[in-house]
Amino acid sequence: MSLPRPVTDALDTALDKVVLAGYSSIGPALRRRWWPADPPAGALAGKHVLVTGASRGIGLAAAADLARLGASVHLLGRDQSRLDEAAAGIRVSVPNADVVPETCDVSDLEAVRAYAARTLETVPEIHALIHNAGVMPETRSESPQGIELTLATHVVGPLLLTELLRPALAAADGSRVLVMSSGGMYSAPLLDSWAHDLQHREGTYRGIRAYARTKRLQVLLAERLATRLADDGVVVHSMHPGWASTEGVAESMAGFNRVMRPILRDARSGADTLVWLTAAPEAASSTGLFWCDRRARSTTYLPWTKADPRLERQVWDSLAAMAGIDHAPA
Ligand SMILES: NC(=O)c1ccc[n+]([C@@H]2O[C@H](COP(=O)([O-])OP(=O)(O)OC[C@H]3O[C@@H](n4cnc5c(N)ncnc54)[C@H](OP(=O)(O)O)[C@@H]3O)[C@@H](O)[C@H]2O)c1
Repeated sequence: MSLPRPVTDALDTALDKVVLAGYSSIGPALRRRWWPADPPAGALAGKHVLVTGASRGIGLAAAADLARLGASVHLLGRDQSRLDEAAAGIRVSVPNADVVPETCDVSDLEAVRAYAARTLETVPEIHALIHNAGVMPETRSESPQGIELTLATHVVGPLLLTELLRPALAAADGSRVLVMSSGGMYSAPLLDSWAHDLQHREGTYRGIRAYARTKRLQVLLAERLATRLADDGVVVHSMHPGWASTEGVAESMAGFNRVMRPILRDARSGADTLVWLTAAPEAASSTGLFWCDRRARSTTYLPWTKADPRLERQVWDSLAAMAGIDHAPA
């Protein structure tokens, strides 16, 4: 029996409010009854897709499903041997998979520049650039350019990489940039109290707080890039994957992982919306939205936590300066 749209909309929103149900494996188990159809077989044939953080976890699961849809998938990570192993695993599970393991530490702006230059020489059209790489370090550390690691990995590196690959994104029809944020960003509305300290220098460093704040900044990044790339015909979305069982979660949130493991999504389910946004034509008809389980979601739970545009502009200016890009007009 199929339920009428207003009923499924209400059910879907209610699941979101009850975080435990919406974020766990219960969310997709229910929502798949009404969410939009899977992309057709071969939807990405002949298209190049770049996935950062593809050596394991959600990025690896996404890369395998993108290869299944026919894409040439570029797997990016910090370690060539881990990437080679990941690519070999995909080739075993996906016959004829076209996967290219490529080292690029997205937190290192020099590495990003070198990678982008190499890629532009060999890949004239990029269908999708997926910023999935993520970290939650216990202690404060900095990238080679002196940028705090979560900020460099989640925001500044992805901003620069997008900017440099813009010609190849603009050259492809229906291209998209996708940013993997986290539901944790709901706990970190953009506020004056921390927006002046993007480098997490003040007070005691807490990895989970730096993570949540930079995941909030990823939502702003996607919104700003959506405006910036609109004239190039490139759409930009951010999303969160719910809670998925990955090595990253087991390492960084051991207690949470122990308690929640029975109801966590698997990595493939965590990657579902990423893959859908990459391949579904519907995802190209909007831009600058925040998604989970194949549906655009609000970026704040409470209306009064919406950021002030002045503060957003100020933060965007700082991020653009760190990435060394000309920040007009977004
Ligand atoms: N799992 C969840 O429940 C969950 C929930 C919310 C959001 N997320 C987000 O989803 C994404 C994937 O999470 P996950 O759980 O799959 O994490 P994971 O298992 O820790 O995987 C993270 C990936 O990022 C790569 N990486 C880290 N730093 C990098 C850098 N500087 N340059 C290039 N690659 C880098 C790692 O590869 P190397 O170490 O080989 O470089 C690895 O492939 C992250 O952005 C995370 O914040 C996950």
